[in-house]
Amino acid sequence: MKSIVIYSSQTGRTRKIAEAIAAGLPQGTPCLPLNEMPANIKDYDCVFFGLWEDRRGPDPEAQAVLKTLENEHIVIFATVHDDVFSDNVSKTLRNMIESLPPQTRVDGTYVTCTDGSHAKEPIRDNEDLRLSDAQDFAENTLRRIEVVA
Ligand SMILES: Cc1cc2nc3c(=O)[nH]c(=O)nc-3n(C[C@H](O)[C@H](O)[C@H](O)COP(=O)(O)O)c2cc1C
Repeated sequence: MKSIVIYSSQTGRTRKIAEAIAAGLPQGTPCLPLNEMPANIKDYDCVFFGLWEDRRGPDPEAQAVLKTLENEHIVIFATVHDDVFSDNVSKTLRNMIESLPPQTRVDGTYVTCTDGSHAKEPIRDNEDLRLSDAQDFAENTLRRIEVVA
């Protein structure tokens, strides 16, 4: 199973989570920002795709790329500061999933909730993003995909 992690990050938080996700995947799995997404993205069996949202919904640049992903397995991880169980977050996740081309299979979603008091500022040194949970999520999700495949 050839996997890759692609992320969009303005404040550095989604980047940190992307790196934790990659740490849960086989050694050497690429972890790249959106603007370095390889031209041969179609060659990967599984794309772990990370993005953030603002009040209007998912980051538009990342959402535009989601619309083009035709890989067999897609896993979405999102960074938000709204309450993780809020209507807004449900709508955003749904919006992300519905942005994918029809017939695309979503193998998992993972949401990180950040502290809203400074979520739009660059990440701070001691911020707890529960990175080990993100790493576990990636490990478990890949294992599940491989068992079913
Ligand atoms: C300009 C901007 C607007 C944001 N608006 C929202 C929002 O409306 N709702 C929300 O839950 N999170 C919002 N966030 C927070 C992010 O979703 C998230 O918590 C995090 O700060 C983004 O990290 P990243 O830039 O590394 O991806 C916003 C972040 C930025 C940078």
